[in-house]
Amino acid sequence: MGNTFGKLFRIATWGESHGAGIGVVIDGCPPGIPIAAEEIQAELDRRRPGQSSITTQRQEPDRVEILSGIFEGKTLGTPIALLVRNMDARSKDYEHLKDLYRPSHADYTYGAKYGTPNLPGGGRASARETIGRVAAGAIARKILALWAGVEMVAYVKRIHTLEAKVDPGTVQRAEVERTPVRCPDPEAARAMVERIEEMRRQGDSVGGVIELAIRGVPPGLGEPVFDRLEADLGKAMLSLPATKGFEVGSGFEGTRLTGSRHNDPFYAEAGRVRTRANRSGGIQGGISNGEDILCRIAFKPTATINLEQQTISTSGEPVTLRARGRHDPCVLPRAVPMVEAMAALVFLDHLLRFRAQCGWQPRQPEQPVAAPAAPASARSGSKPSPAGAPPARADLEE
Ligand SMILES: Cc1cc2nc3c(=O)[nH]c(=O)nc-3n(C[C@H](O)[C@H](O)[C@H](O)COP(=O)(O)O)c2cc1C
Repeated sequence: MGNTFGKLFRIATWGESHGAGIGVVIDGCPPGIPIAAEEIQAELDRRRPGQSSITTQRQEPDRVEILSGIFEGKTLGTPIALLVRNMDARSKDYEHLKDLYRPSHADYTYGAKYGTPNLPGGGRASARETIGRVAAGAIARKILALWAGVEMVAYVKRIHTLEAKVDPGTVQRAEVERTPVRCPDPEAARAMVERIEEMRRQGDSVGGVIELAIRGVPPGLGEPVFDRLEADLGKAMLSLPATKGFEVGSGFEGTRLTGSRHNDPFYAEAGRVRTRANRSGGIQGGISNGEDILCRIAFKPTATINLEQQTISTSGEPVTLRARGRHDPCVLPRAVPMVEAMAALVFLDHLLRFRAQCGWQPRQPEQPVAAPAAPASARSGSKPSPAGAPPARADLEE
């Protein structure tokens, strides 16, 4: 079944949109990690519905309850269970959708597979399912920051036809959070908000592209051949609802270049192997090369719209549908924390796998997050890399 994700840091999400609650069980979390409920809550607040005029107006506080696996602010190493109760489900708003198939939603396919009726609010196909991922992602993200200084920033790059100018090498989360659309280019953000509001007024919807930059990733993450880093990242992103595409590095545009223009030339810098360009998007041969990881995820326009559409009832009769209820006119602003959470889950899982197979060591608590300085070999006490493995970031840091 497809409700579990990850090999060593493994999550199982559960729950439906209008059930009693939604949650996650995390197995394989290392013990002794300091994590406060507020840190998990902060990520859930970024995902929450009703947070601005351009999201769905469903009002859910989405307060996280820690049921197990964390004691006195530290992980125990035992399964962590997190619960968020559904408080504002209004199933009667979905009565008119009960006996028909919404175009491009999951009503028909869930029924065809499970033989179940349409569940109010989309059941498990609802984006509420991602609460569990975002909560688990907050813990994964904390470990990545503590152990390896990894930071990840996702932002809205494009809404419909409006594209932002953003430098993925320097963009900070605070800039992303400054606008309700989560686009760090203020001018583009203003136009995007207007476009989404216009769509809402018209009863229509729009999609777009989220870009994700991950910085400070040590070289060596990724498990060829089937669990190449980009393959696992692609799966993680395409498992989010409403996604339609995934690119890493130069992506589809890169195919317009010749090899001589496309290759990333190597150079050595302070004992570190670097590349002058980053069309690889930080991944070569399915393994991180230490450069920033860059990817883009396409999200389609929201399926449920307040305009007349032709469809059929569950018994096959033609129906004209004009959907009501509370819906996101554009899913991207709320999908930003979901993208970051999925990336955190993938990177922590791969970091744990790198540690298990090649002996990568987490940074010690007293070590600063500083960028690598001197060559590992020039410093006393630095351990050689495991045979065949590239030098681990921990070996390169003070
Ligand atoms: C943040 C977010 C919010 C969403 N909100 C809605 C919504 O309000 N209405 C809707 O029809 N779909 C919404 N979706 C998309 C549906 O969950 C999704 O289209 C549906 O499950 C069908 O899956 P598919 O589009 O991947 O084929 C949302 C998706 C995300 C990521």
